[in-house]
Amino acid sequence: MKKSIKSLFALTMVGMLAILAACGGSDSGSGDKGKKLEVVTDAAYAPFEYMDKGEITGFDIDFLNAVMKEAGYESEFKNIGWDPLFAEIQGEKADLAISAITINEERKESFDFSTPYFESTNMILVPEDSDIKSAEDLKGKKVAVQNGTTGQAAVESILGKNHKNIKKFENNTLAIMELIQGGADAVVADNTVVIEYAKNNPDKKLKTIKDEKNFESEFYGLMFPKGSDLKADFDKAVKEVINNGTYSEIYKEWFGDEPDLEALKK
Ligand code: ARG
Repeated sequence: MKKSIKSLFALTMVGMLAILAACGGSDSGSGDKGKKLEVVTDAAYAPFEYMDKGEITGFDIDFLNAVMKEAGYESEFKNIGWDPLFAEIQGEKADLAISAITINEERKESFDFSTPYFESTNMILVPEDSDIKSAEDLKGKKVAVQNGTTGQAAVESILGKNHKNIKKFENNTLAIMELIQGGADAVVADNTVVIEYAKNNPDKKLKTIKDEKNFESEFYGLMFPKGSDLKADFDKAVKEVINNGTYSEIYKEWFGDEPDLEALKK
């Protein structure tokens, strides 16, 4: 008798363990916690994402790793380039993208975005001796941009859509090379990126110009396929990482000063 109670207990325990294992710890019902997610990026946009000794690195990578940890997911980053990144997410071949991607109305029609994690604006990069002082001065000049960016849209709003003086490149590094080689008079791209480039490459003798009148404030977000059930988990995790001090730590490591957290909460 005693024995059979013992074995019944043992059997029950085995059964409960089996049920627990089958559930796979799915506690929230949304997404698949612990799952390895495929993250796509265009790693030619320092300091947000770039290749260093064969490794994808940057502020975005450190930030997303912190968010992944908070949300309980694993990640695998793939550097596939800017245009392919939108195609992969739209075709649901990858789970999410991080690439200093500006949240805007046009993109929101085809993609879902997380809550914002970084404020940005376009800026003009020119040779030190350039006479360009504002966005208006870009009229009549050759301007290099990364194809399909808000930088391209910003230049188009001044020169006109498909204007022959707008030179479009697959990535931002190529646009900057064009400027350095004299094929363009200016590059328009995100402020942090052009400021870093000018600072880290003093031999190239470049300067940056801001134009708050023509270039508006933008916010970066994580980008998901439309209707992705990951969005809810990640919105929560992004907010947590921003509120618990982790974001500020990573920000300070990359940029040396305190972030304006209020701007992200607007
Ligand atoms: N923020 C701009 C946009 O969303 C440029 C981003 C480019 N990012 C990159 N990794 N190349 O259009």
